[in-house]
Amino acid sequence: MEKIGWGRFYGIGTGPGDPGLLTLRAAEVLRRVEVIFAAAARDNQSFSGGVVSALGGCRAERRSLPFTMAKNMADREEQWCRNAAAVTRELRQGRDCAFVTIGDPLLYSTFTYLMREVAELLPGVEIETVPGIMAFQDLAARFNLPTVEDRESLVIVPAWGRDDRFREKLAAADTVVLMKTSSDRAGLLAELEAAGFKGEIIYGARLGQEQETLCRGGGEIMAVEEQYLSLVIAKRSPERQAVGEKQKLKAKEA
Ligand SMILES: C[S@@+](CC[C@H](N)C(=O)[O-])C[C@H]1O[C@@H](n2cnc3c(N)ncnc32)[C@H](O)[C@@H]1O
Repeated sequence: MEKIGWGRFYGIGTGPGDPGLLTLRAAEVLRRVEVIFAAAARDNQSFSGGVVSALGGCRAERRSLPFTMAKNMADREEQWCRNAAAVTRELRQGRDCAFVTIGDPLLYSTFTYLMREVAELLPGVEIETVPGIMAFQDLAARFNLPTVEDRESLVIVPAWGRDDRFREKLAAADTVVLMKTSSDRAGLLAELEAAGFKGEIIYGARLGQEQETLCRGGGEIMAVEEQYLSLVIAKRSPERQAVGEKQKLKAKEA
């Protein structure tokens, strides 16, 4: 297969939402590529696409790709193949393409599925990942909360699969990042308590975006509305505290 003249495929992390957290490398690539793909979000508003719009100076054609969250794996795989075919059509014509994703492209991201399919359809194609600031890093920063120190361990785990494996992971962690905390926060807080987490617990929803929410402590967390785009960081030890007040995006801009 002829690969000379193919475009390069970039996976770009846009950071959690604040365009100020986009890296210089990501900005440089986004302003250079010819096509920028983004996942069409549930509400048809792509979070990572919003960061690209705010960046400015991009000449690329903008395209959105549907990603189904169907329980049936065959349906999901079919969708990944269709999306990869859309990307490879452009790459074969020598157009450099980027797929933008919220946070980092290699952490619970649609980019990983797309990248594998693209590599299968176009063996030897050049693929480059441009890392992005992960949502949990932004959340920790807002509270000046050290994620881990000394010999502590950090575990990142989705909050929805609360089974024995989930509990084993909690038991092993000094700090836990719980992603996808959109439902049953009472159950989640009970799990943390049962696993012996007695330290700080912070929550962020829609970080860097409109309607951003920041909370500290179980009481505050229970009082806010549930959001799809939300996460929790909890510390086992009560000695490892956050320093100072929470720093909302508004406060930074003022
Ligand atoms: C599909 S994962 C994407 C993770 C992303 N690749 C990262 O590096 O952070 C979606 C989950 O990431 C978290 N997340 C991503 N961006 C967020 C934001 N701006 N505010 C709050 N949570 C966010 C939430 O837990 C959400 O359910």
